Amino acid sequence: MNVASPTAKAREFLNAFDNNLELAQQALADVAAENVSQNADSYKVAEDAPVVIRLEDVSKTYKLGKQKVNALKEVSLTIQQGEFVAITGASGSGKSTLLQLIGGLDKPTKGLVSVDGKKLAKLSDRKLSIFRNKTVGFVFQFFYLQPFLRLQTNLEVPGMFARERRGVRVARTKELAVAVGLEDRLRHMPKELSGGQMQRAAIARALLNNPKVILADEPTGNLDSVNGRGIIDLFDKIRHDFGTTVIVVTHDAKVASRADREIVMKDGERLQV
Ligand SMILES: Nc1ncnc2c1ncn2[C@@H]1O[C@H](COP(=O)(O)OP(=O)(O)OP(=O)(O)O)[C@@H](O)[C@H]1O
Ligand SMILES: [Mg+2]
Repeated sequence: MNVASPTAKAREFLNAFDNNLELAQQALADVAAENVSQNADSYKVAEDAPVVIRLEDVSKTYKLGKQKVNALKEVSLTIQQGEFVAITGASGSGKSTLLQLIGGLDKPTKGLVSVDGKKLAKLSDRKLSIFRNKTVGFVFQFFYLQPFLRLQTNLEVPGMFARERRGVRVARTKELAVAVGLEDRLRHMPKELSGGQMQRAAIARALLNNPKVILADEPTGNLDSVNGRGIIDLFDKIRHDFGTTVIVVTHDAKVASRADREIVMKDGERLQV
C-alpha cells in the first residue's frame, strides 16, 4: 500500500482548503499530531503486570439535604501497574468522583477500593494521609502552584510533607525538572511560566515522592492542543521511565486515543465497551 508522506498529506490538505488559512493551519496541526503519535514509542504494559488498582462494586451517593445523587453505581475495574488509562464520559457522569475515591480523597458509600495492595477503607486517617502523599500524585486542570514560591520550592512541597531531608528533596527536584524539561526554570515564579510549563511543573511536583499512581483530572483542559499533546507525551514518558500508572480524566478524544485503554462512564455507571 502506498502511504502518503506527512508532507504530501499536508500539501493535499492545503490544496483542499485553498485560501482558508485557519482551516489549513488546523489541518497542518492535525497532521503534526498524527505524526507525533505515530513516532512516539508506544509503551505497552506487560500482560502479567501486577494489578495496582482494584474497585469492586463501588457506589457513591452524595446527600444534599433530602436530595440524593448517585454519582457512582456499582463500578468495578482493575488497572495494572504501568498502565495508561483514560477515563471519559459526559459531564456529571462520575469521572472526578471515581478519581477522588481511587486517590483516597473521599470514601465510597459501598464497595471496595484497593490501591497498591491497601484497602483504603481500612486505613486510619494518618495512614490515609500518608497514602495520599506517597502512593498517589494528583494533577488538576488548574495547576495549583503556590504563586509566592519559586518553582524549586513548589516542587519540593510534597517532600516537605513527607519529612524528606532537604538534600534528597533538592536532588529529586533537579532530576524531575530535567525529566519535564524545566531545569532552567527552577528559580522562576509560577507567573513567569507558560501554561504548558506550569502543568509540567505540577506533574513534576506530583512525582516528587515517586508515587505508584498519577491521577490527573482534565490535565490538558486549560491548554492549547500543542501543549496538551506535550503533557500526554510526558505522561507516556513517565510511565515508561518510572513505571508509574497514569490515569487521566479527559473530554478530549485525541488525548483518550493516546492511552492504552479507555474506561467510559455514563450516569455513574461504567459502560462496557
Ligand atoms: N460534593 C458533591 N456533593 C454533591 N453532589 C456531587 C458532589 N460532587 C459531585 N456531585 C455530583 O455527582 C455527579 C458526578 O460528579 P463528577 O464531578 O464525578 O462528574 P464528572 O464526570 O467529573 O463531571 P465533569 O466532566 O463536569 O467534571 C454529578 O451529578 C455531580 O453533581
Ligand atoms: Mg470532573
